[in-house]
Amino acid sequence: MKTEQDYRRKLIKECLRKEDLCARLLRAVALAAGQAESIKGTFELCLRRICDTTGWALAHVRILAQSDSLGERLPTDIWHVASGERSQDIHAAIESDQFRSGPAWQAKIVRTVRPFVLPEVTQQPGFAGIDVTRHFGLRSALGMPVVVSDKLKAVCEFFSQAFVRSDSLWEEVLASVSAAIAGAIERRWFEQALQDLRTKLLNLQDDERRRLARELHDTTGQNISLVIINLDSLEREAEGLAPAARERLAESGELARRSLQEIRTFSYLLHPPLLDELGVIAALRTFVEGFSERSGIHVDLDLPEHPLSIPRDLEITIFRVVQESLSNVLKHSRSSKAKVHLDFGGGRIAIRVQDEGTGLPGGESGPLPRRIGVGIASMHERVKQCGGQLTLTPRNRGTQLAVTLPIPELAKAVGA
Ligand SMILES: Nc1ncnc2c1ncn2[C@@H]1O[C@H](COP(=O)(O)OP(=O)(O)OP(=O)(O)O)[C@@H](O)[C@H]1O
Ligand SMILES: [Mg+2]
Repeated sequence: MKTEQDYRRKLIKECLRKEDLCARLLRAVALAAGQAESIKGTFELCLRRICDTTGWALAHVRILAQSDSLGERLPTDIWHVASGERSQDIHAAIESDQFRSGPAWQAKIVRTVRPFVLPEVTQQPGFAGIDVTRHFGLRSALGMPVVVSDKLKAVCEFFSQAFVRSDSLWEEVLASVSAAIAGAIERRWFEQALQDLRTKLLNLQDDERRRLARELHDTTGQNISLVIINLDSLEREAEGLAPAARERLAESGELARRSLQEIRTFSYLLHPPLLDELGVIAALRTFVEGFSERSGIHVDLDLPEHPLSIPRDLEITIFRVVQESLSNVLKHSRSSKAKVHLDFGGGRIAIRVQDEGTGLPGGESGPLPRRIGVGIASMHERVKQCGGQLTLTPRNRGTQLAVTLPIPELAKAVGA
C-alpha cells in the first residue's frame, strides 16, 4: 500500500522531471530563435527542436494573424513531422483526413488564450480512427497560444505517441515555452516590420528624387533656358548701352548658363533619366563620364556589353551603389584612380568599386567600417532589400567595395 511519503516522493520527482524538461525546451526555443532568420524559419525550427527534445511525433502551427505591412508572406499552416517521412504525403493525408485540431480545439485556445493538454486525442470527436492518428499512433495533444504584442498570432500544436497527463505542472511548462516562442517571434516580427518600413522609405525617397529631378529639369531648367535666350537677344541689341551695362549683361548670361548646367547636373544626380529610358549600363557610362570630368579621378569602367533586363529596383540599387562608392572614393580616399567592374552570370550580379587611395581609417579589415555614415548604411539597406551582400575591405593599396545581388529568375541580358 502506498504511503503518504511515497506519494510525496513521486510528486517531487515529477516536479523535478518537468523542471528539467522545461529548461531543455526553453534552451531549444532559444537556440531556434538564434538560428532562424525569418518568422517562418523561427516557427519551423521551434517545432523541430521541441519535437527533438520531447520525442513528440507531429507538430503544427496555425498562423492566425498576419500583418499586411510585413514583407514576409507567411503560410497559414506549418507542419513538422518528426519521423522525417515525406512531408507532402503527410500533408495530403492531413488534408484528406481533415486532421486539424479542428475549430473546437482552436476556438478553445482563442477563447482562453491558455495552453492545454488533451490526454486522449482519440476520444475527441473527429480524431478517433482517422488515418493520421492511426498512422502515427498518436495519443495525446498539447496546444499553446503564441501571443505577440497582446494579440494572439498563432496556435502551436504538438502530438505525442506517449500519454501526457493534463495537470497544472504541464500547463506551467507549456505556458513558459509558449512565452519563449512568442518572445522569439515578437523579435522577428518587429525586425521584419522595421525592414519593411526601411524598404518603403527607400522607395519613397527614390520616387521623391525622381519627382524633384523632373521638376528641376522641366520647370526651373526650362525657365533658365528662356532667360538665356532673352539675355542673348538683348546682348545682340545692346550696342547703344554703356560698356559697364554690356559687361553686366554678358555676366548675367554667363551666370544663367552656369546655373542651367548646375541644375542639369543636380537633376541628373537626383535621378538619371537614362536609368528609366536605356537602363543601368547606359546610365552608369554617362554618370561615370560626368564624375571623372567633375572630380578629375580617372575611372576605369568594366561593364557588360549588353544591357541587362532586370527589375527596376535592382537597376536603381546598382546605380546608387556605384554612385555612392565613387562619391566615397572622392571624399575619403585621395585616390586619383578608380575601377568600376560589373558582371553578371550564375544567377547573380557582381559589382566591384576599387580605388588606390589611403584605405579605410585605421586599416580596418571587417566586412564594413566601424563608423558608417548615411552612404554605406543606405547602400547596405538597398542591397539587403534585394537579397544581396555588401563588403568594404582594404586592398594592398586602397579599398574595395564588393556587392553581389541575386538575379530573379526571369531577368536576362538583352541580346546576350
Ligand atoms: N573608398 C574609401 N576610402 C577610404 N575610406 C572610406 C572609403 N569609403 C568609405 N570610407 C570610410 O567609411 C566611412 C563611412 O562611409 P559612408 O559613406 O557611410 O559615410 P560618409 O561618406 O562619411 O558620409 P555620407 O553619409 O555623406 O555618405 C567614411 O567616413 C570613411 O571613413
Ligand atoms: Mg559616403
